[in-house]
Amino acid sequence: MNLQCFKVTIQDQWALLEMARPEKLNVIDEGMLLELETILKGFREQKIKAVVITGQGKAFAAGADVAAMAAMDCKQAEQFSSLGNRVFQGIEDHPAIFIAAVNGYALGGGCELALACDLRLASEKASFGQPEINLGIIPGFGGTQRLPRIVGAAKAKEWIFTGQRFSAQEALEAGLVSRVLEPEQLLPEAQKLAEEVAKKSGPILALAKQAVSGSGMGVTPAHGQQEATLFAKCLATEDGPEGLKAFVEKRQPVFNDR
Ligand code: COA
Repeated sequence: MNLQCFKVTIQDQWALLEMARPEKLNVIDEGMLLELETILKGFREQKIKAVVITGQGKAFAAGADVAAMAAMDCKQAEQFSSLGNRVFQGIEDHPAIFIAAVNGYALGGGCELALACDLRLASEKASFGQPEINLGIIPGFGGTQRLPRIVGAAKAKEWIFTGQRFSAQEALEAGLVSRVLEPEQLLPEAQKLAEEVAKKSGPILALAKQAVSGSGMGVTPAHGQQEATLFAKCLATEDGPEGLKAFVEKRQPVFNDR
């Protein structure tokens, strides 16, 4: 497969999946989502049992592509959010166990990608956030659904309503990540975890994942669709397009509550 956005390294029964556009801070656009969907399909066929996802460079992923979103109308925004939700749901419903090794910025869609994984380890250098509110939009790749399930409604609302960034340590305290590691220890520890998981039975791992998902922690396509509908509504306001345009123009947005 000719990959543009990712690098895949298969190691026996687990895989290292690197977001490989460091010069773009691994921003998530339509092409990247579609490529990820194809990779996920391949992992199913190859019976991969564990996947470590990380980002090359200083970012895990700096979010969805704001410049692309600034050019979208409501319908296109709904389609983009539905696509992101569908692909991340594909991680949640995948038989393999996904381990996010969060090396740097995990903002917006980048944070949502980590949330869709089963396990999350963070480098001390990681920085998390759902900053969409500052752009006049809401999280659109499942963040409104997964963040409250993982850290509880109070903390999720604080982070979604303020858009504040938070550190790896704060992520640990909130239960968003299970470990904070020195930067050079992040990948070795994530790989160790993947190797340990890959020693287990693949079908039993998949059943265990399905069982935990069914405990009420899981997100369904209906949750994602509801989020996509609300995400699209942001673009029908005046403040949504203004927030996105302001980012592209490198200025502060002027919100008029309309
Ligand atoms: N979408 C599109 N472009 C993005 C982006 C995004 N989510 N995040 C960063 N970029 C672009 C920047 O516009 C900049 O482009 P330029 O080189 O053409 O000027 C380039 O990536 C590098 O980013 P820069 O801001 O110069 O790097 P930095 O190290 O100073 O800051 C961040 C890094 C991640 C803190 C900062 O880029 C940022 O806040 N990005 C937006 C995060 C965000 O709101 N994500 C949620 C989107 S839904």
